[in-house]
Amino acid sequence: MPSLNLNGQVQTLDLEPEMPLLWVLRDELGLSATKFGCGVGACGACTVQIDGQAARSCVTPLAAVGERAVRTLEGLLDDPLMQGLQAAWLTEQVPQCGYCQVGLLMAAHALLSKSARPSEREMEAALSNLCRCGTYPRVRRAMAQVIARVPA
Ligand code: FES
Ligand code: FES
Repeated sequence: MPSLNLNGQVQTLDLEPEMPLLWVLRDELGLSATKFGCGVGACGACTVQIDGQAARSCVTPLAAVGERAVRTLEGLLDDPLMQGLQAAWLTEQVPQCGYCQVGLLMAAHALLSKSARPSEREMEAALSNLCRCGTYPRVRRAMAQVIARVPA
């Protein structure tokens, strides 16, 4: 029976190991922050973190996670960096329909956790999420706000 290290707690799940992590989170565990978008790993709406790396949960089978630590937005609500990102997102009025935004926040958090002052190339690679509302310039402004607060 697979187990899952999720948001700081290890739990055993009576589920098929092939089940995509996104299904486990939303349908089995009721964690609805993570969204279903394309289902094929293209849009990033389903982004979670696995051992601190942004990962697309729709194409990640439960078995592939193994013992690595999974974090969803629900598990980062008390995290200062995530709170800073959310505040900047509000200041810049980033969310439009909002559907893609959790995935973007999870990707941004993973990036800034690794690299407080990322290069343009790192930003482009990390924030490859799709937004049908076109919030990309607002995302960049919000990111710039957070990055500017990092002591030199
Ligand atoms: S729903 Fe997973 S990448 Fe689009
Ligand atoms: S805010 Fe609507 S899809 Fe990104």
